[in-house]
Amino acid sequence: MTTATSSDVTGKIFKLAPATNLNGTVQVPGDKSMSHRSIMFGAIAEGVTEVSGFLEGEDSLHTLDAFRAMGVKIERGGEGEVTLHGRGVGALVPAAESIYLGNSGTGMRLLTGLLAGMNIPATLTGDASLTGRPMKRIVDPLSQMGATIGTGEGGTPPLTIEKSDTLKAIEYVCPMASAQVKSAVLLAGLHATGTTVVHEPAITRDHTERMLRGFGVDVSVDGLTSSIRGGQVLKATTLTVPGDISSSAFFLVGASMTPGSSLLLTGVGMNPSRTGVIDILRLMGASIVVENERETGGEPVADLRVSGSRLKGIEVPEELVSLAIDEFPSLFVAAASAEGQTVVTGAEELRVKETDRIQVMADGLRALGADITDTPDGAVINGGRLTGGTADSCGDHRTAMSFAMASLISDGPITVLDCDNVNTSFPGFAQIAQRAGLNIEEVAATP
Ligand code: S3P
Repeated sequence: MTTATSSDVTGKIFKLAPATNLNGTVQVPGDKSMSHRSIMFGAIAEGVTEVSGFLEGEDSLHTLDAFRAMGVKIERGGEGEVTLHGRGVGALVPAAESIYLGNSGTGMRLLTGLLAGMNIPATLTGDASLTGRPMKRIVDPLSQMGATIGTGEGGTPPLTIEKSDTLKAIEYVCPMASAQVKSAVLLAGLHATGTTVVHEPAITRDHTERMLRGFGVDVSVDGLTSSIRGGQVLKATTLTVPGDISSSAFFLVGASMTPGSSLLLTGVGMNPSRTGVIDILRLMGASIVVENERETGGEPVADLRVSGSRLKGIEVPEELVSLAIDEFPSLFVAAASAEGQTVVTGAEELRVKETDRIQVMADGLRALGADITDTPDGAVINGGRLTGGTADSCGDHRTAMSFAMASLISDGPITVLDCDNVNTSFPGFAQIAQRAGLNIEEVAATP
């Protein structure tokens, strides 16, 4: 894994002059979690699936390329439009080479579950960050189901999946709150004999369950327990991916913490397992009004009207952590702006994301003048203004965009290092942020 100290100065840099607030209307790109799943499920469905709103970011494009390599005909139309000629469950062909999934934990973990019982071999690799991330969390339950999956030393990628079509259902008590682990097991369960059951310790995003239903699969959910019967066939469908609430979060935070901001975010996915960021910001005093609520493809969608004010520090309720797990980098910035102290606990999963996000945010915000102490499972942040300086994103898309938003509460300029991976989830971020009010310039790093 890339650590807070190992980042080299390559790739793009964000240079930011202080800015005061955010205004106007922003439409963020499609949801990354749903974009991955739309490709995976369309590829193994029977018939032609049409997807619109697909995120054309590097992560989801790697998933698309993976299925092309396994014989699925996939056509790309206009922006965000993808047509998949599904091959049906069990009709994929082995990829000629190892499958490269870039920076994407979702791509690797879900694909491993999906392929585990499909009777084709595959080797999955990724970039420096992904090849440092823990995979034992999926290999353990999948092995219990009868899959044979090799890992690198310490349970990290590359993953080598051996041919197997004899998986058996298990009842799995997941030790960590992880939609990726839950999804990997449920997807393997599609090819297992019997009914696979997963119990979670906390609510995690349920896009797998919802989208599979859209493909005609019977998935049952009862509280923190999800079950799937093996041997079901997916039927092609048409689906629209809404805007990614995780990409919206940078703008929600930026506008909420700056008096004078008035921002409308349109077409944002409002799945209740993802809206923790709104709840947390509201507890900090933010004004976020949900308008024009509607539903697209089994997922709630809305427009969000944000007005800026001075936020106040809070103790973040632990039950909201899994509902906002990807939004903590930007929430740390909100806390750095707030009046008083913010305490985050129960968020140790942040340490095994694209980077150790507790460490990277604490180091970066400290370098920008914040009063922040990292703890094993979170941080204690005393809010105020920032002085500016240089923050190293360590190649993590979400820390990079969060540090960019810090320019709204900084008296001096900010430089954010190692920003190439912003393209994994939010192509066009700098341009959209510039239009909304950041003074941001994207430049190549000078060696
Ligand atoms: C995701 C689940 C989350 C999240 C990731 C996307 C998904 O990871 O952090 O960005 O699409 O299922 P975990 O399930 O490991 O927490």
